[in-house]
Amino acid sequence: MHRDSTVLHLRNGGTSVILDFDGGGFPAVVHWGEDQGDLSEYEVQAIVVASLSQRVSGGLDQPARLTVLPQESAGWQGTPGLRGSRQGRSFSPDFGVTGVESGPSTLVLLAIDADAGLTIRLELDIDSAGVLSQTLTLTNAGLDDYQLEDLCVTVPLPATATEILDTSGRHLRERTPQRHSFTIGRHERESRKGRPGADATLLLSAGSAGFGFEAGLVHAVHLAWSGNHRLAAEKLVTGSVFLQAGELLAPGEIRLTPGQSYTTPTVIAAWGHGLNELSARIHTRLRARPTHPATARPVTLNTWEAVYFDHDLDRLLGLADAAARVGVERYVLDDGWFRGRRDDTSGLGDWYVDDGVWPDGLSPLIERVTGLGMQFGLWVEPEMVNPDSELARAHPEWILQPGGRFPVEGRQQQVLDLSHPDAYRYILERLDALLSEYPIRYLKWDHNRDLVDAGSSRTGRAAVHENVVALYRLLDELKARHPGLEIESCASGGARVDLGILDHTDRIWTSDCIDPIERLTIQKYTGLLVPYELMGAHIGGPASHSTGRRHDLSLRAGVALFGHLGIEWDITTLSESEATELSAWIDLYKEHRPLFHSGTAIHVDHPDPAVDLRGVVSDDQRTALFVFTQVRTSSFYPVGPLRFAGLDDDSRYQVRMLAESSTGPDAGQSPLSWSHQPLTLTGRALRTIGVQGPVLFPEHLVVIEITSA
Ligand code: DGJ
Repeated sequence: MHRDSTVLHLRNGGTSVILDFDGGGFPAVVHWGEDQGDLSEYEVQAIVVASLSQRVSGGLDQPARLTVLPQESAGWQGTPGLRGSRQGRSFSPDFGVTGVESGPSTLVLLAIDADAGLTIRLELDIDSAGVLSQTLTLTNAGLDDYQLEDLCVTVPLPATATEILDTSGRHLRERTPQRHSFTIGRHERESRKGRPGADATLLLSAGSAGFGFEAGLVHAVHLAWSGNHRLAAEKLVTGSVFLQAGELLAPGEIRLTPGQSYTTPTVIAAWGHGLNELSARIHTRLRARPTHPATARPVTLNTWEAVYFDHDLDRLLGLADAAARVGVERYVLDDGWFRGRRDDTSGLGDWYVDDGVWPDGLSPLIERVTGLGMQFGLWVEPEMVNPDSELARAHPEWILQPGGRFPVEGRQQQVLDLSHPDAYRYILERLDALLSEYPIRYLKWDHNRDLVDAGSSRTGRAAVHENVVALYRLLDELKARHPGLEIESCASGGARVDLGILDHTDRIWTSDCIDPIERLTIQKYTGLLVPYELMGAHIGGPASHSTGRRHDLSLRAGVALFGHLGIEWDITTLSESEATELSAWIDLYKEHRPLFHSGTAIHVDHPDPAVDLRGVVSDDQRTALFVFTQVRTSSFYPVGPLRFAGLDDDSRYQVRMLAESSTGPDAGQSPLSWSHQPLTLTGRALRTIGVQGPVLFPEHLVVIEITSA
């Protein structure tokens, strides 16, 4: 076997990428996924040769291969990696590689098409968690403008990928999973909302039939970007199977003048035997960032569902006292504190404390909060403006608009154009002034409408891209000016959850729905991307404000353990025993938060959808906490064995139920064998045989502690 082409085998964190530089064009991606081990040059070449397909009747004379940037000029007939033109010309570039720099797990590649006047720079990296990340930079090296339509990263999938998993959703029900068979054609998920959207799929995953959390080979991509995007899974008759991810650009949004460049957002790609392993890679990557929150995530009280717009100082002081009593560590004053904001129809943009409602400013509240030993946080929605505000009346030109008219309103509001230097300066100055005047340690940064018609009044051109760039700059600038400031990304709940925003903020608000039954699904699928410590999870009142359902505190709190825990409930009305019970849950969270916020998130696949079993296992596999929720009644009665994943097969563990399962119909007469007496079992027995689950009323849960014996 002699070939002249150069091959590269990049490896890190259990992941391999094999590239074949054949023919001078972009390298073919022969493999992305499981580590192939330490291979000789011959062995890598052999893998490449083994992957070459035959020419077939009716096809082109040279079968097209999937490359890092598939192009029509190489015979590729799937969706190309680059689309654009110079007024229709240069529509099908033909790049030749001019430079390659590679390390054991990194690659920087330069390519040029001199005739089309375009250059490409690809940066590829496999990190120590085995996550592959890539960006592409396109530069216009020609003499006239180049209109970019699409530039996306492409990664190959194994032929075993026959099923797609993504999520849909809506306000109050983000991240609803949907599965499809992966047939020939293209499955595309787009956002045209100027933010990822409540329906955004955080990951687009494709895997072997029936893949789950514990098993089945699965690969996925994510775009670290907070604006419009496109994720796609495509299968061609030629056998090419791949995922693509890139920003979705509006017509004319990116027009590169000579010398100008466009860089894609980072595309994150991860794989695993089961979604638990895939997610763990992404979580590990995030936790390795120098900016990852390093302090214990403070128990938060958010005032929204407790008081809504009723900003009565005495009421809010009472809430602060009650919060401190049950162990709250951060108090966040939500919407309603600024000028003209008595409800959600007015005031956005006028970021001054309303002196009618707060005659002495925010100090009386902040002093009480900090005096009680809690941090103070404040809600803002800086990108938005109500037409009924002083700001909108003074500067209608600062509103995003297509030219000559305003977009349809959403929640009675419009969107500011942060790419307008004066609008940007005003918002920066206002927020900076508030942060300088008051000891505000935390901003809940909201964004309550989808964008449509989002153009700049200065250029008349689409401006979503520029606004995302300006937003990131604004967040960074505020953090630089106010060291230690933490920011939460909220967008009508979870409509802006992505790793782009999380590079500039410290947690996301997962959903406006805090009904624990809904939250089980919302948190499970948000958690595919976001680790527990970055995911806001609150304990609401007994009756959910968004579904009307009532639940015991144990369910509301047990589900909120799997996140950055908070309270969103008027706890001034609690009886002594209710307050004691709430404190006990908060103590449990505090005791176990180092585990939740550093360990591996585990979901156990169970054949019965009425059973939810989720947990977290410490890195050294010595400690774990699981929660079994009887979501609704099961067909099996009793429910049958519960298995536990993520443990070390050969270690022995003590399994203990933390809260007694006293909520089942027959619990008193026939207690479960291990409910009062911990059992010792091997990790293997726990994974393969399990322990009999307690009989619970529907919508109830138990917490199970597993520690190395
Ligand atoms: C939407 C958020 O998701 C809620 O938590 C709350 O902050 C409201 N906005 C306030 O208007």
